[in-house]
Amino acid sequence: MPLYIVILAAGQGKRMNASIPKVLQPLAGKPLIRWVLATAETLNPEHIFIIYGHGRERLKAELNDFTGTWIEQLDQRGTGHAVSQVLSFLPNTPDPVLVLYGDVPFISFPTLQSLLTAKQQADLTLLTAILADPHGYGRIIREEEQILRIVEQADASPLEQAIKEINSGILVTEARYLHEFLPELTAHNEQQELYLTDLVKLVRAANLSVNSMTLDDAREVLGINTMKDLAQAERHWQRYCAEQLMAKGVRLVDPDRLDIRGTLQVGRDVVIEPNVIISGNVVLGDGVIVGANTVLHDSKIACRVIINPNSVIESSTIGPDCVIGPFARLRPGVVLGEKCRVGNFVELKKSVVGPGSKINHLTYVGDATIGEQVTIGAGTITCNYDGINKHPTVIGDNAFIGSGTQLIAPITIGEEATIGAGSTLRKDAPPKQLTLTERKQLTITSWRRPIKTESSAN
Ligand code: UD1
Ligand code: CA
Repeated sequence: MPLYIVILAAGQGKRMNASIPKVLQPLAGKPLIRWVLATAETLNPEHIFIIYGHGRERLKAELNDFTGTWIEQLDQRGTGHAVSQVLSFLPNTPDPVLVLYGDVPFISFPTLQSLLTAKQQADLTLLTAILADPHGYGRIIREEEQILRIVEQADASPLEQAIKEINSGILVTEARYLHEFLPELTAHNEQQELYLTDLVKLVRAANLSVNSMTLDDAREVLGINTMKDLAQAERHWQRYCAEQLMAKGVRLVDPDRLDIRGTLQVGRDVVIEPNVIISGNVVLGDGVIVGANTVLHDSKIACRVIINPNSVIESSTIGPDCVIGPFARLRPGVVLGEKCRVGNFVELKKSVVGPGSKINHLTYVGDATIGEQVTIGAGTITCNYDGINKHPTVIGDNAFIGSGTQLIAPITIGEEATIGAGSTLRKDAPPKQLTLTERKQLTITSWRRPIKTESSAN
């Protein structure tokens, strides 16, 4: 039977006190709604509907690859009103409809699969959980084992508030029942909203059956309403990632001070010092050491590389046995061969560096192709940009670039060339020769240091 999925994402998230729609708040670097959507897609549904209200432009821009249907809920009159918006898109059939919430990100594929299986035994199936502190959630009211209705926090009597079984909000029913009962919802409640949860009462009144699947681990249905909830969810996820990594043998010096905002693939004997941020897809080979405060994004780091503290590496590929940093910045498009050294305050961009080359101090290299065993002295700059276009620099194997040199691109430095310190080269340098630009050194004997005057004292 075809499965329809409705994701509710129209609420503005008042309790967040933020200007972006709640479902776009990032959890481990990914908007909340993406978590839900990714899980929804694994169920292989016939169709996914997203009900949106606030921030339509931003939502659509963020989820520009979404192939389902966007449905606007003009005014947010409650979860029941939200689901009603899909009725004109749904067939009036017994096909199952699963309702998911844009602010419940950890819901998992196996749980939803079991929920769909449980639905085969009833007309409406609720996902519930037992919470030590159920405050804020809708409570499940049962008589014997039978579910009678759901009461919202705002409408619950003290006795009902003591109930620990909560409504996750996630449910499955049949398209035809939504057609039949949603138009019957009323807003006679504390919040004057059309509650989706009242479906339970209506289904029961029609002598149809309601069952539930109850989770022991309620973290999966954690709803995110406030910044505090979001931070808790982030910590929960990061703990989980850290535990997975440690199980693979990674030595995390402090598992509470690592942030994974993407995927991390690791070899054996990897060490990660505190306060490292991993985003996008990162691969660390055997024996890699990642120093403190390092940020790695979409990069491949080969075996035994040492990344010293405070380095930032983005969309780059590092060969085996390189030593990077401290304080190195590798911008997108850097490829280092094996055994390179990139030291402090060195910025590399879109450059290929051959094996064994060293760029150790205070240097900018952009749009360059550097051979093997090249030494680039401190304070070297490839002047790759003329204000309009970028130009390439090519440096041959075994070249030695003296400190404080500017290479004005496009330019080629021959193999085994030596460039004198402090040179500004505008033309190619031949192989195996010493090339330098000469500047005359002057000493001005008549010069005196300025003396501080009254008016410049402050
Ligand atoms: C809802 C449930 C509650 C459950 C809890 C679980 C109802 C009436 N209450 O309460 O039983 O325990 O979720 O987290 O269903 N939304 C819309 N349009 C609207 C209103 C809400 O799209 O008009 C969306 C929100 O964006 C959000 C979701 O529906 O993604 C839930 O809304 P929210 O206001 O957070 O409901 P809760 O008070 O948490
Ligand atoms: Ca909520």
